[in-house]
This record gives sequence, C-alpha cells and structure tokens, in this order.
Amino acid sequence: QQTFDGWIRSLSPFHLSVEKLREVSARLRKDLVRGLGKHSHHKAPVKMLPTFVRATPDGTEKGDFLALDLGGTNFRVLHVRVVEEEQKVLKMDSQICAIPKEMMLGPGVQLFDHIAACLNDFLVSQNLKGQTLPLGFTFSFPCEQKEIDKSILIRWTKGFNCSGVEGEDVVKLLKEAIHRRGDYDIGSVAMVNDTVGTMMSCGYRDQSCEIGMIIGTGTNACYMEEIKNVRRVEGEDGRMCINTEWGGFGDDGCLKDIRTEFDVVVDETSINPGIHNFEKMISGMYLGEIVRLLLVRLTENKLLFEGRTSEALLTPDAFETKFMSEIEERDGGLENTQNILTELGLKWDSVDSRIVRLVCNAVSSRSARLCGAALATLANRIRVNRRLDHLKTTVGVDGTVYKKHPNFSEELRATVRLLAPDCDITFLVSEDGSGKGAAMVTAVAQRLAHQTRLLEESDGEVDDEEEED
Ligand code: GLC
Repeated sequence: QQTFDGWIRSLSPFHLSVEKLREVSARLRKDLVRGLGKHSHHKAPVKMLPTFVRATPDGTEKGDFLALDLGGTNFRVLHVRVVEEEQKVLKMDSQICAIPKEMMLGPGVQLFDHIAACLNDFLVSQNLKGQTLPLGFTFSFPCEQKEIDKSILIRWTKGFNCSGVEGEDVVKLLKEAIHRRGDYDIGSVAMVNDTVGTMMSCGYRDQSCEIGMIIGTGTNACYMEEIKNVRRVEGEDGRMCINTEWGGFGDDGCLKDIRTEFDVVVDETSINPGIHNFEKMISGMYLGEIVRLLLVRLTENKLLFEGRTSEALLTPDAFETKFMSEIEERDGGLENTQNILTELGLKWDSVDSRIVRLVCNAVSSRSARLCGAALATLANRIRVNRRLDHLKTTVGVDGTVYKKHPNFSEELRATVRLLAPDCDITFLVSEDGSGKGAAMVTAVAQRLAHQTRLLEESDGEVDDEEEED
C-alpha cells in the first residue's frame, strides 16, 4: 500500500484537471493579446511575431524553388516544384546535411559557411548551378521579421547557441556566406518559420488550413490573425500569419503552479535557462529527460528497481524521447519497455516495467493536454475574431512527437474538443511541410506581386482612356 501511494504521489503533479487546463488556456489567451500589442509586446513572453505572410495559397501558384530547412536535428536542402494543374507540391529531390553538435554551439560564421557549402553540393548534384531559383528558407527560431527577406534572430532555442547571430539578419548572414565562396548565387529569398511552412504546405491541399503546429524537437504554432489586431503592422484590412512562439509561454513565471521539480531541473540544466518553459514541458528535446529524472527519483525512494539505479540511468539525456513511443505502444509496449530497461543496465521485475510505462504515460499525456489547451486557445481566438458561433478550420501539423507517439494525437484532440467545443478542427499531417511550405510562401509572395503588377497595369490603362476622353 505504501509503495502504491508513493507511485500515485510521484505522478499526480503531472495530471492536469480540465479546470486547470482551462486556466492555462485563459492565461495564454491574455498572453496572445499582450504579444500583439504595440507597447506590451516588448516584454511579452509569447512573442506573437508578424510573418508578412498575408495570404494562404489559392491553388494557382506554380514554379520551381529551392528550400533550406534549419531548426531540428538536421539541415536539409530541397528542390521543390509546385504544379498548378494537380494542386501538388512535389519534392523533386533533397539532401540532408548533419550539423555536428560543436557547430550548433560554435561561431555563427562557421554554421552559415557549412550551410552555403551544403547548398553548393546540392546544386552541383542536381545540375542546378547557374540557375537562380527563388529560395525559401525555413529557419525555425524566433525571428523579428522586418520583411519577407529580412529576419532578425531574437534568440536561439532548442539545441542551438551559435555566437554572433542573435540580433542579426539571417538572410544577410546566408548571403554573405554565399558571397564568401563566390562560386554561385541565389535568387529572391523568403524567410519562414517551420510552423508557417507547415500551414502553407497543407494550405495548398486544403484552403481552410489557417493554423500550423509543430510538436517535434521544439513546439510552436502560427495562425491567421486579423491585421487590425496586429498593432505593430500598419493596415486595417485582411489577415496576417502570426508566429506565436508559444514555447515561451510561462517565461514570466505564470505557469509556476503546474511546473514540477523535474521541469525546474530540466530548465536549469539546459543551455538556455529561463527560456521556453512551455516548450520544455512539451517537446521532444525534453520529454525523455523529464522521464529519466522521475525514474531516478522513484528509484532513490525505493519505489523502482529495488532502489538500484544504473550508470546509464544517471546520465543526462540517456533516456531518449523516442523510448516513450516504444514503451507506450499498445501492442508490444511492455516487451519494448523491458528491452529498453535492460539496455539501460537496470534490473527490473514485471511491476517495475509496468510502472515505467505509467511514468512515460504521465509525462506524454501532460504534454499532449498542454498542447491541446494551447491549440484550443488559438482556435477560440480565430472564432471570436470572426464573430462566428461555430468555426470549421484545419490545422497543419508536423513533428516527431505528434507523428510517432502512439496516443499523443488522440489525447491532444480530446483536449481540444473539451476546451474549444464550438470549433470543428480537421488535423492534416504535413509531409515535408517545412521544406515544401517555404517554397509555397515564396510562390504565394510571387503570385501576390504578380497580381499587384497586373492591377497597376490595368489602372494605368483606365487612366490612359480617361485622358483620351
Ligand atoms: C522552437 C522555435 C520555434 C519553432 C519551434 C518548432 O520553439 O523557437 O521558432 O517553430 O521550436 O520547431
């Protein structure tokens, strides 16, 4: 009985009631408004960054594009074709370049030289050198976007911390690196966050896609906001996509009541303490470590493995987030658990393995429910913005946690249904969203520019006729 109480006590801080989730959603609702405000945004933990993406695809975009994708564990270069007739975004080819850990923490110049070199190799292998294709750059970090091709990094998140990049224009750094080489050049550039890329790539298939969400190494979402509410951007009519950077929710301490001692340790031992608290409770970069810390604590309290830890269990980051997906699998999960525990050098019995499963479930469920609460907040905001009783919308989603974890998406949806009962949300899983989406953003920008040119020309004709009269 004592052991049983011990397990329950250790896991209960991870269980968030619906009332608590409602409170969290209400706090986020306020923070969205703070982030959008002209004066309040400087200090807002949820940054609500304008993206200068004013329209979602209308299905008439077309052409060939290059795309770069930096922000997860790998860097990718892609050649993408948008085919109007089939309303399809095709990945012609792509290449992955690993980014060594030292480079993620080294000088920025070195990182951008590496990116320029990877792009060169790709252009050579695809026989594209000499063409100047427009380039979409998915850069999945918080950036203050000045224009579609000018984007200042506010700060690094996730595993990156290169010197000399924060406060700088990322497009300029990329172009400088290419010019340092001097052997090729690129066309116009459009900068995109991965959430925006995901929304835009799904938007070609489903034109009601107005939210993009990532739950992978990091977590974040973007959505279409009324321009009149974006006080930092001029204009009254129409909409603009806002990159919420909801990972920063709680950085002012407003989630103190739900943070556990394990969340505090994960934050304090990270490379960016105090930053992106919400993300650290949710995303793939941190979930495994939360589980590991919990397992260590349970073992120390003699509630697991007869009180015996192992070297691996005591090693930071040794318990990978992907283990959680394997452990929580419906069929075969228990067997996977036992294999993983053996790999980690632990001596387990069948009760231990069941408890480990419960621990993983407590941590992943909390993540899914928090994400669900945040998504419900966005959907409710869009509905109220448009004065609708009922909103039907689509969310484009990407990220390994959402895609690979066996019950994550189900729990997330259940939470959204509870907290946003008047919103009917379709979830569209994006394939290669950030790469294809970057091309899509570039294509939409070109379409809008073309339409503006046509309008100006036809205005000119009217003027001429009037003059003749
Ligand atoms: C981090 C980044 C954000 C990105 C997210 C998902 O939260 O700050 O820009 O969208 O990770 O990759």
